Amino acid sequence: MIYAAVLAGGAGIRMRRDDLPKQFLPLGGKSILAHSALRFLNNTNIDKVLIAVPDDWLAYTEHLFSSDKDAGVHSAKIVLVQGGADRNSSLMAVVDKIVTLYGVADDDIIVSHDAVRPFFTQRIIDENIEACKICGAAATIYPFTDTPVLSTDGETISNIPVRNGFYVAQTPQTFNIKLLMEVYTSLSDDDKSILTDASKMFVLKNKTVRIVQGESYNLKITTPFDYILAQALINENNIE
Ligand code: CTP
Repeated sequence: MIYAAVLAGGAGIRMRRDDLPKQFLPLGGKSILAHSALRFLNNTNIDKVLIAVPDDWLAYTEHLFSSDKDAGVHSAKIVLVQGGADRNSSLMAVVDKIVTLYGVADDDIIVSHDAVRPFFTQRIIDENIEACKICGAAATIYPFTDTPVLSTDGETISNIPVRNGFYVAQTPQTFNIKLLMEVYTSLSDDDKSILTDASKMFVLKNKTVRIVQGESYNLKITTPFDYILAQALINENNIE
């Protein structure tokens, strides 16, 4: 089985909206979350789409999807999950739900994705799955185009590393579920509290993570400025 984990359990503090977390903000007639979920719902390689949301937004999310006719045709594929305290905890809450509902086979895969990146593509999903089948873990990345600058004191430049070989991390990140459970349980509580990125857990444990090329427009909507960019991008309408 191949599962999608749409991570929408955050509070969206940096978006500075008191009324609702950023994943529920409207974008071209749907919520940001609905755009992300629909990309997985429309992918025939994905068997189930599990969506992690904050506890007090579960009922709202249920209504959101039951009243969306594009999502409605896939309702048997959708499972809502109560998110965790941080991003990896939300991912592991989805894994726990999979274990409870379906059990886990040796070759089961989870494609995890930030709900607030609504512009990923079917190619990126499919290449993540294929890459994960090779070594158990895959991560979407995009070449770093600016010049990276290191400042260790926050006041002066310590070094300007050579840009070649540097990439920006995007999502999806995709894992063999049994391997993910093994890696996560091997981490100390301290490691768990500082590791915000799931593929970093694998790197820390010397596991191979294959890379998949992302897209420049696979934007993470974090700040009000990102939301303005996303509203401009949604009108392009040629992202599949
Ligand atoms: N996320 C999650 N569970 C959490 C925290 C984050 O599922 N406990 C999800 C977010 O909903 C988002 C993705 O992880 O889709 C990337 O996180 P980020 O952009 O940092 O979202 P927030 O944590 O909501 O943002 P902020 O730090 O501004 O509060």
